[in-house]
Amino acid sequence: MPQAKAAVLRQTNTPMTIETIDVGPVAAGDVLVRIKAASLCHTDLEAIEGAIAINLPAVLGHEAAGEIAEVGAGVTDLAVGDRVVLSWNPHCGSCFYCERAQPILCRQFLGNGPKGFHFDGRPRLSCDAIPMHQLMYLGGFAEYAVVPVQAAIRVPDAMPFDRAALIGCGVMTGVGAATRVAALRWGDVAVVIGCGAVGLSAIQGCVLAGAGSIIAVDPNPARRQLARAIGATHACDPAEAVDLARSLTDNRGADVIIEAAGRSETFRLSAEAVRPGGQIVWLGKVAVNDQVSFRWGSLMQEKRIVRSSYGGAKPAQDFPMLARAYLDGKLKLDEMISARIPLEQVNEGFAALKRGETVRSVVMF
Ligand SMILES: NC(=O)c1ccc[n+]([C@@H]2O[C@H](COP(=O)([O-])OP(=O)(O)OC[C@H]3O[C@@H](n4cnc5c(N)ncnc54)[C@H](O)[C@@H]3O)[C@@H](O)[C@H]2O)c1
Ligand SMILES: [Zn+2]
Ligand SMILES: [Zn+2]
Repeated sequence: MPQAKAAVLRQTNTPMTIETIDVGPVAAGDVLVRIKAASLCHTDLEAIEGAIAINLPAVLGHEAAGEIAEVGAGVTDLAVGDRVVLSWNPHCGSCFYCERAQPILCRQFLGNGPKGFHFDGRPRLSCDAIPMHQLMYLGGFAEYAVVPVQAAIRVPDAMPFDRAALIGCGVMTGVGAATRVAALRWGDVAVVIGCGAVGLSAIQGCVLAGAGSIIAVDPNPARRQLARAIGATHACDPAEAVDLARSLTDNRGADVIIEAAGRSETFRLSAEAVRPGGQIVWLGKVAVNDQVSFRWGSLMQEKRIVRSSYGGAKPAQDFPMLARAYLDGKLKLDEMISARIPLEQVNEGFAALKRGETVRSVVMF
């Protein structure tokens, strides 16, 4: 069993500690991945702050890429040396929800993922013989991860590891929200609320889906500037969003809203800025027991609201397509990497994410 340097969260709201952990066993249907890059997503921050409950101690990190170092029994589709992006939605492929093309609701996935263990309910990591949990079957903030084979998706060798890592959560979620979840039609006026990695990816998804106008909404002027550089046609402060959407739509409101900020006021704004009969996709989240209130009138008139985890991801299909789009110059990822850091700086990286200074910091191994 290999040992690995890992960032371990032992208690919420405390810094992660850099420790040496034991990785394995690599059971049947598992693969051992040598992690090369892992980026810092807002969802990890929510786990650190206790806004989403996970079992501890745990290795976080769910936006990661690396190469296959070992395959477990029965694994035939991947070989040592293959370059992979990790998916945080490994699924069985045959349960009620998988059969209905909703892998994000897979019973096996939802069964043990929240507990931080594998499909068989057993751990794959330990420290001094004490089991250690993996966020979403992964645990990317470590030199090695053992994951179910469904969680390792092969991408072209030409795909750089740091940019490949981004695909695993934020990019998939944002692009997927526009291309797979929203019923976006050519020429539509779209509003994207929140311009972190998820929102910036949603903007690019709107471009790929043929939106007409794309309004980027963020209180941070630097984010608005980045949004324009990445494909938004307009950008504004949240206070101006409703008026701007109406001014472009004969006073109707936007055809599609993608919310990617995760605040009560941004959920409310999405309902106020969409047109009658329009479509809202919520990607952000507040703590699970928080309440969010709405002006009832803002919800009337046939508005369709979907809350999506992972933007309708079909990782095995989508990750290679997203990598190809990057390599062909159709998807901008370089702009989203604000810093490349060693594992030892992971806590500082999350502090910078919380302050809104970085879009994505990427831990390089
Ligand atoms: N649905 C999913 O599968 C999924 C996946 C990843 C992240 N998320 C969620 O998506 C959200 C964004 O994630 P991220 O990693 O891009 O975070 P981030 O912190 O990098 O970005 C959030 C952005 O929202 C902006 N913002 C803050 N207040 C705002 C307001 N009132 N109006 C408009 N914008 C505002 C911030 O300035 C920032 O640019 C988080 O809530 C995260 O939990 C969801
Ligand atoms: Zn399933
Ligand atoms: Zn994420």
